[in-house]
Amino acid sequence: MKLIVETPRLLLREVDESDADGFFEMDSDPEVARYVGNVPVESREKCLEIIRFVQDQYLAFGMGRWSVLLRETGEFLGWCGPKRMVDSGINGRADFVEVGYRFMRRHWGKGYATEAARATLAYGFDVMKLPEIVAYADVRNEASVRVLTKIGLNRGNDFEWEGKTHAWFEKKRNID
Ligand SMILES: CC(C)(COP(=O)(O)OP(=O)(O)OC[C@H]1O[C@@H](n2cnc3c(N)ncnc32)[C@H](O)[C@@H]1OP(=O)(O)O)[C@@H](O)C(=O)NCCC(=O)NCCS
Repeated sequence: MKLIVETPRLLLREVDESDADGFFEMDSDPEVARYVGNVPVESREKCLEIIRFVQDQYLAFGMGRWSVLLRETGEFLGWCGPKRMVDSGINGRADFVEVGYRFMRRHWGKGYATEAARATLAYGFDVMKLPEIVAYADVRNEASVRVLTKIGLNRGNDFEWEGKTHAWFEKKRNID
């Protein structure tokens, strides 16, 4: 297990196959899928594929989504972390690092996404020394737009992606 970040309530660590049941509960939920493209999933096996995909990203880019666990109990809550996007063309941008998150529905509304995303930004700027971190969300996804606003990203333009209007967010690292 590679621990990345600790916050008052959360541990963020690299994903591993022990997270498959948590991924499956989360990613098979149509409510979780409402504003994101690649879910709901129909099998635990598919979740193992997703986990291996993220592990490949660690090797290729030195970064990828991290599992978020509750410190007190060690239970899996969801994922949060940076993702390197190369040649995506999203919002006309070729190469960037975006922060994203996804949590099991029974853990929504407790501030976990905000706490994890804030820690990801701090780690991305202070430890990884990323020059810029971006994010985007379906404009109807008010919880996500709220999280991105609360963590201090600057809202940019709206743009169309996969047939839906998305809001772009970005923040540059303070010069140190
Ligand atoms: C988006 C998501 C990660 C938010 O997780 P969370 O842990 O509940 O978020 P937080 O509790 O940290 O913050 C949510 C904020 O949105 C607000 N909110 C929640 N639902 C809302 C709604 N329908 N309309 C307006 N605000 C809403 C909450 O009140 C809270 O703001 P506040 O602290 O000012 O009260 C969670 O809903 C999720 O996993 N959704 C499915 C996956 C997804 O959409 N990921 C993002 C893709 S861009």
